[in-house]
Amino acid sequence: MLSQEDNALFTSVGPGTPTGEMLRRYWHPVECTEFVTSKPTRLKILGEELLIYRGASGKPVLTQLRCAHRSLAMDYGRVEGDSIRCPYHGWLYDATGQCTAQPAEPEGSGFKEKVKLTSYPVQEASGLVFAYLGPLPAPLLPLYDVMMEEDGAKGIARRNVNCNWLNCIENIVDISHLAWLHGYTFPAYGAKKVTYHWDRKDYGMDNVMDIEGIDDTHISCYAFPNVNRFSAPPAEKGGELIKSMIFRVPMDDTSTMQFYIRFYASAKKSINYQRKEEKLGVYRQLAEDWWGIDVGDQDRMAIEQQGVVADRPNEHLGVSDGGIIMQRKMLRESLALVEDGKDPLCVIRDPAKQKIVFPQKSSMMEQRQDHLNYNRAFVNWNANAAE
Ligand code: FES
Ligand SMILES: [Fe+2]
Repeated sequence: MLSQEDNALFTSVGPGTPTGEMLRRYWHPVECTEFVTSKPTRLKILGEELLIYRGASGKPVLTQLRCAHRSLAMDYGRVEGDSIRCPYHGWLYDATGQCTAQPAEPEGSGFKEKVKLTSYPVQEASGLVFAYLGPLPAPLLPLYDVMMEEDGAKGIARRNVNCNWLNCIENIVDISHLAWLHGYTFPAYGAKKVTYHWDRKDYGMDNVMDIEGIDDTHISCYAFPNVNRFSAPPAEKGGELIKSMIFRVPMDDTSTMQFYIRFYASAKKSINYQRKEEKLGVYRQLAEDWWGIDVGDQDRMAIEQQGVVADRPNEHLGVSDGGIIMQRKMLRESLALVEDGKDPLCVIRDPAKQKIVFPQKSSMMEQRQDHLNYNRAFVNWNANAAE
């Protein structure tokens, strides 16, 4: 159980909050590469309203949403070269956020030199645009194993979840739900007796499960603070497991954006982008599932229906919730490090540590309900949408 104060501490992510400031010390994906174009669009990340666009040089630009003159949201503006022009009075800002033109001001005025938008470093990797909103110098972008995969089919996707980020990241280490919430989808562990333990790692922690009747141990991984790496069933029967990651990026205290990377080796190289707008309480139905909900929506149902911010002062954590207890310890350690002026846990500055290869063991995923469309659930949400 968590006190009301600690629940508020871990779930408040806006600027100036301890958890918000800690999370700003990491690179986070903010949009899929394909969806960043010369049409400026608005984003909300860690409680901050932002504007993103792709300039003529091809580089993404991320600045504050609102014009410094009189606060117009500049997703109504237009991109000129690498700059953005506000439609209200035509002020122009370059890719660093510096104001370079104020057409209504007197000729020769130096006023524009004094005006600069907040802007943030961005970089693209593996079909995602990553941003760093924290104090400079920025650390290195972790290069997780799935990000570095290229020779095959890659799926990049964005999907909102209507709850606080902590519900989302607890789901990563709450592995006892696999045998129940996803029990129909994965017959190897549906309603089976499972024993668990969690191992701290340089990148975060490993979730380790042993299932009755299965010799092989199951391992999935948590990259602190908000990323997980797991394997999903093959797109086709007998195929290789799909290497998967999900980044869970707080938009504000009540909503989170999840970015997905999925990959499997294939002679045909491809990259497929998707986005989905999800409504609270609306979940894809699957009549024969134990809970009547398709596996692709089961986790979202669970984390949204805990309450937008879960009621942790009234929870009862057992031995099987050891991952959540370990995760909260890591959050506290990380907050203390930032308070001491240090980097929080798992921030990388040494290039020798930038590449991260996760251990994965998921042979049980090969047991499947052959009539289910795992391809739609785990690779391509839009395929066979009429099902
Ligand atoms: S409000 Fe943007 S130029 Fe005036
Ligand atoms: Fe799950």
